[in-house]
Amino acid sequence: MTRYARTPLRLLVAFVFLFTSAACTAARPGKTAIASADPLATAAGYEVLEEGGNAFDAAVAVAAALGVVEPAASGFGGGGFFLLYRADEEEYRFVDAREVAPAAAGRNMYIDGNGQPLPGGSVDGPLAAGIPGEPAGMVYLAENYGTLPLSRLLQPAIELAENGYRIEARSLMGLRFRKQTLEKSAAFAEVFYPDGQVPENGALIAQPDLAATLKRFAAGGFDGFYKGETARLLVDGVRAAGGIWSMEDLANYRVVEREPSVTNFSGMRVITAPPPSSGGVALTQMFNLLSGYPFAELEGAQRKHYMVEAMRRAYRDRAIYLGDPDFVAIPLSMLLSRDYMAGQRVSVRGDRATPSSVLDGIDTDGSEGTQTTHFSVMDADGNRVAATLTINTWYGAGFMPPGTGVVLNNEMDDFSIKRGLPNEYELIGDEANSIAPGKRPLSSMSPTFLESDRGIAIVGTPGGSRIITMVLQAAIEWLEGGTGEDMVSMKRFHHQYLPDEIRYEPGAISDTEIAELEAMGHTLKPSRRPFGNMNVVTWDFASGKVEAATDPRGRAEGRVY
Ligand code: GLY
Repeated sequence: MTRYARTPLRLLVAFVFLFTSAACTAARPGKTAIASADPLATAAGYEVLEEGGNAFDAAVAVAAALGVVEPAASGFGGGGFFLLYRADEEEYRFVDAREVAPAAAGRNMYIDGNGQPLPGGSVDGPLAAGIPGEPAGMVYLAENYGTLPLSRLLQPAIELAENGYRIEARSLMGLRFRKQTLEKSAAFAEVFYPDGQVPENGALIAQPDLAATLKRFAAGGFDGFYKGETARLLVDGVRAAGGIWSMEDLANYRVVEREPSVTNFSGMRVITAPPPSSGGVALTQMFNLLSGYPFAELEGAQRKHYMVEAMRRAYRDRAIYLGDPDFVAIPLSMLLSRDYMAGQRVSVRGDRATPSSVLDGIDTDGSEGTQTTHFSVMDADGNRVAATLTINTWYGAGFMPPGTGVVLNNEMDDFSIKRGLPNEYELIGDEANSIAPGKRPLSSMSPTFLESDRGIAIVGTPGGSRIITMVLQAAIEWLEGGTGEDMVSMKRFHHQYLPDEIRYEPGAISDTEIAELEAMGHTLKPSRRPFGNMNVVTWDFASGKVEAATDPRGRAEGRVY
């Protein structure tokens, strides 16, 4: 009797213990992890974590440092998205610090009198630059989610700008690739082409003007960048070189906090970027289309065929429907519904590619891009940040307003400057993504959290239009048991409706699969350049293991403490 009475009690105690310890494990990793594109930026994040800062503080420090040491990809002249998870509140937030079109921008500002695009108009020089959002995003994060003052979070970046950093191969490639444009900006050339030449690998690059700008920013917060001396220098520099910014454009810039996009696939929850990113809509659509097949059982060319057909349809809808949700009515309830994708699935044949030309869409009358940067952070309490930041193409607009040290973005090229005209990423668009004052250009940036019974993953990558399909492939890899290391190092492929071809990294698709896909009617093209630079943090609930995995295509190493 005693024995029988005790056993259930022991079981109950054991159950309560196991349950609460599992819940604790799930709520608190007890370790911190940062995966960013540059070891100096990762170190900046750790510096503030070690001082008692949280993941949001670390994100500001990492973003600021990247703006100094990875100037080809992101920075104070650009914008980006921060996806947040607050562990205590179990709350997800999306901080939209995307650039906006200046007030003097017009729908046809890059079109000449004959209806033709002005060569380079939306890509090179200050007319190509939207009003930066990244500094405002940093202020917003520090004030609303962080625990340390902005001035402390900017300190590592200020030191890197003042004392210099050693420039590395990827940044140098951009300096070589765009030299003709970049050297036209005297202030830019003074920093990045000493003696008129591309620097040696490992040369020390100091940025005294940027250090001064960051000191004003640290002292004044939002007003220290968007008003006063910095704003005046930015606006004067832009206008003197033919741009259209005003002081009001800068002073009026506002971050927008939005509800993240959430979707589910085979027991995995995907929390990601809503419009003005196209990432959340496209990922939802692709997963919804794939959920109609026994996906786990599909292999080889058959699996890739269905993935490509899902990509094709999601990118077609991107071109037709998506833009800044504060300016256009996006039919989200249709696009995100499983029924809608079930309808789309009817047009998918199991044995044949659907030519993009037979899907209703937008005709094109027409480079690869791997710029932008992504980092992932988790602190010991389980707070998380997935941040994707950009100045668009390599060194953005290639323009630095004198006296600022700030490299301006060329995000205006992410608008559809003319219906059906491919942009730098060969993406096309329509009315929904046309230019209007104050509007945000449609983005592909997709900072993402993956969650399942297994654990969590914090994911994202640069890569222009390919960002979304890279995140798709990484998510499937994780769902099927892959590690962070597997996710960042896997070879990748991509389809974006137009051009109607599968681009792939050598090794992503086997020779046999290529033959099978070609027999189905697909066109395949190997890519000369690697896809992306993915940085991932994972946390496995069962083992408690925390992993910070950085892309072998980049140069960084993740760090876990
Ligand atoms: N500038 C790249 C993107 O936002 O998608």
